[in-house]
Amino acid sequence: MKVIAIANQKGGVAKTTTTYNLAAAKAIEGKKVLMIDLDAQGSLTIATGIEPGEERLEGFSTVDLFNPKKDPADTAFEVKSIPLKEKLFIVPSDPNLANTENYVNSLDEKIYFIKDACEVFAQYDFDYVFLDCPPNLGIIVTNALVAADEVIIPVKTDYLSYRGVELIKDSIEKVKANKRMNPDIKVAGIIPTMYRGNANDHKDILSILEKKGKILGIVKESVAASKGDVDGVPAVVSEPRSDVAKAYYDIAKLI
Ligand SMILES: Nc1ncnc2c1ncn2[C@@H]1O[C@H](COP(=O)(O)OP(=O)(O)OP(=O)(O)O)[C@@H](O)[C@H]1O
Ligand SMILES: [Mg+2]
Repeated sequence: MKVIAIANQKGGVAKTTTTYNLAAAKAIEGKKVLMIDLDAQGSLTIATGIEPGEERLEGFSTVDLFNPKKDPADTAFEVKSIPLKEKLFIVPSDPNLANTENYVNSLDEKIYFIKDACEVFAQYDFDYVFLDCPPNLGIIVTNALVAADEVIIPVKTDYLSYRGVELIKDSIEKVKANKRMNPDIKVAGIIPTMYRGNANDHKDILSILEKKGKILGIVKESVAASKGDVDGVPAVVSEPRSDVAKAYYDIAKLI
């Protein structure tokens, strides 16, 4: 089982869109895939058609991965909004994750919850776990980086976004440098997102990003990507022939 964190502390760079498309592409390939929504905003959960905080999820959400008395296996729900059988699952988020973060911060052993949960998921034959990280560098993101085999960094190709790449790379380096954190963590690569090939500043930023790390693929700006927010279906399913879907399918082959 491979655990991949989709991380960047910058908001709105397509972490969630990337998570859903890559996870769905892998599930379509026939892999058994789990997505964990680590963001209290619950965008990924909403994108799959599940309402964060609804009653049936109480006791069965990301919040419960931070409670050692709970069995992580109980928190994985099958994603029903796309036509696959027993391939794509999600641990939904809960608005209370924000409070959980404060509580986890107060603990001594606070960085191993997601790693421990992933060890349980490995027993259920998952091939991939995708961790959709929130836009910060807090303790939940540290938990994700400690659990991850690899990190994918989506970066919007505008000026302010690309400048944030160094910050997330520093955080990954800190986790790698600490034997008790995750010395084996690797950066799988960067995905420039919402790219506009006709804009000079986008082209300039793409060439800077190429020097900062391996480019896994370039995802153009397109309504095919954002439509999924409403429809509950990622571009790789709703518009498989779109440029966005093709880019995500090609990236999925690399991971
Ligand atoms: N290739 C694309 N073209 C156009 N719009 C896109 C593309 N990818 C993502 N978007 C849109 O950009 C917005 C931000 O995307 P997304 O929610 O995936 O980012 P995020 O990094 O997860 O945000 P947050 O930091 O809030 O978690 C969404 O409305 C999404 O639909
Ligand atoms: Mg997000």
